Amino acid sequence: MTKILDGKILAQKIKLEIKQQVANLTKRKPKLAVIIIGDDLASQMYVHTKIKACQTCDIDGQVIALDKSANQTEVISHIERLNNDSTIDGILVQLPLPKHLDMLTIINTITIDKDVDGLTNINAGRLLQGDKQTMLPCTVKGILELLTYYKILIKGQNVTIINDSNIVGKPLGLLLNNMGATVSVAHKLTKDLFAYTKNADIICTATGVHNIINNKQVKPGVTIIDIAINYTGPNKKLVGDVNFMEMAKVAGAITPVPGGVGPMTIAILLTNLMTCYELNNK
Ligand code: GUN
Repeated sequence: MTKILDGKILAQKIKLEIKQQVANLTKRKPKLAVIIIGDDLASQMYVHTKIKACQTCDIDGQVIALDKSANQTEVISHIERLNNDSTIDGILVQLPLPKHLDMLTIINTITIDKDVDGLTNINAGRLLQGDKQTMLPCTVKGILELLTYYKILIKGQNVTIINDSNIVGKPLGLLLNNMGATVSVAHKLTKDLFAYTKNADIICTATGVHNIINNKQVKPGVTIIDIAINYTGPNKKLVGDVNFMEMAKVAGAITPVPGGVGPMTIAILLTNLMTCYELNNK
């Protein structure tokens, strides 16, 4: 029987626990600041979802919406102000940024104890070194929680990740490698992708290409972690990178889209925020 890795249920459980933790706090409430630059609709939707999740757990959320023409100095000065604001526990700069901005400089301005997204060079370096103290990027930690909760073996397994971004593919590869998996991080120049998918015990995919792999290009019993958000057909149906129904016929375990990795990313953002809250209230 194929295991459905239900992220919606697990995320709900995590959010309930956080709500309880917040209710037990004796000091002020935790607070997340989100900076969004420009008018990208998908980014606006993600930010809305993040703030709504904060509200359901009685966490304060503040959005700083900047015009798409905002310059580097302006963005950095907002981050510096938030770094120095003792009522702010986590700072998230919604990506992608408008092209004229230098993403790395902006992200690396976030003070380490407020890096709720785990994207600064310090947290990335900690992950590289296998330092458990690192703040993991939300999607990466969400996937780890799903694999752990549903008892999917990582140690000694062959993992193929089809994504090499700083937010997902690279940190996920490092994490699973640190945990004893043999990891291939594929990207658009990868020759013979299916040689890697056929050999994988776990496939994590985030390409934005629906049907990037089909059920003949994987090993029976494979675990499929579908991280993608794609819209297909005239009704713009939300789907992932794989055809869920077809892939479920051969997979041992699979995340649905929607209801898999997406809700976990949001729940883990709150978990990371609670960690930042503790660091900021030591
Ligand atoms: N854009 C899409 N996903 C993410 C994320 O996890 N963090 C940030 N900051 N931006 C994103």
